[in-house]
Amino acid sequence: MSISKSYFDTLENGEDVEIYKITNKNGAVAELMTLGAGIHALKAPDRNGELADVVLGFDKAKHYINPDFGYQGLSVGRFANRIRDARFSIDGVEYHTPANQGTWTLHGGGRFSFTNWDIKRISEQSVTFTRFSPDMEDGFPGNLRMDIQYTLTDDNTLRIEYTAKSDKKTVVNPTNHAYFNLSGDKSKTIEEHYLQINADKFTETDSSQLPTGELTEVRGTMMDFTELHKIGDRINEPFRAVLGDVGYDNNYCLRNTEFGKMAQAAILYDKESGRQLEVWTDLPGIQLYCGGWLEKTGSIGKNGSYVTYRRGVALETQFYPDSLNIPDFPFTYTMPNEEFKTVTELRFSVK
Ligand code: BGC
Repeated sequence: MSISKSYFDTLENGEDVEIYKITNKNGAVAELMTLGAGIHALKAPDRNGELADVVLGFDKAKHYINPDFGYQGLSVGRFANRIRDARFSIDGVEYHTPANQGTWTLHGGGRFSFTNWDIKRISEQSVTFTRFSPDMEDGFPGNLRMDIQYTLTDDNTLRIEYTAKSDKKTVVNPTNHAYFNLSGDKSKTIEEHYLQINADKFTETDSSQLPTGELTEVRGTMMDFTELHKIGDRINEPFRAVLGDVGYDNNYCLRNTEFGKMAQAAILYDKESGRQLEVWTDLPGIQLYCGGWLEKTGSIGKNGSYVTYRRGVALETQFYPDSLNIPDFPFTYTMPNEEFKTVTELRFSVK
């Protein structure tokens, strides 16, 4: 196990973005950056022990902070995914968040992703980023401190622990927005990847992809990933909850709804390389997004690689989109001076 630090790039405000590289005893690598407390690279072995970088990303900070490039690898806060009409209420008080996409808020307005985080703690196998968000920053109540700790274990798991504390009752729904391409070859689309999601229902959406509040059975529809099968099998089927051409960009309701209890949420598998990723979380939802909003051409990614249409699959663990406005959705408020904590693990193996 070792950790090293290197310079990545400088932001317009003069701040340097640093990368912390953790290497485990198998040679697996996690490169974590201060920008958006994000994942810059993850190197995992294939069935012959060959390491390859399995996440999309860029060589330049300015690409990471371009919202049109899809929040590659970045942490998202305070509230991931969508907030309808960019507003919500807590105990009768209405709060207004940035309408940074259409009439709604996407990914809390983006600030948590597009700013540089501080370092709180470093150990041989972990790095902890921290960010202070003042009361009413982007409309969210409470002076809030969030820490994100990444730990790379010797069994090729990247553990992501989010903790937050606020002096007022507030909402916290963090995620990480890495896009996986387990083949290591980013010129390939992810349509050949196999996927299983441990969910029987998804959150029904309207034409703006905002939840209607209904939960719909996946069985009998293209949304069904209850058994491992290729993402490409049905991605182009017409279906009301999926925008044609974009493909999957939907929240699944995980079977495990007990917040705080870890369970397997999804399995992603690339047959050719043998690489498998299991996503474990204590959150009730996961967004399956296959990069269908990304540009169709261009290779501006790391070392000229493709960060384009369907080259990566994001599996974003989360409370359901807009859960702070839909009383029936499972959600846990962050109470004053009490620690909010959630954990997601990315467990890599070969098959
Ligand atoms: C959203 C997509 C969006 C992507 C990048 C996902 O969580 O569901 O609609 O394009 O993030 O911002």
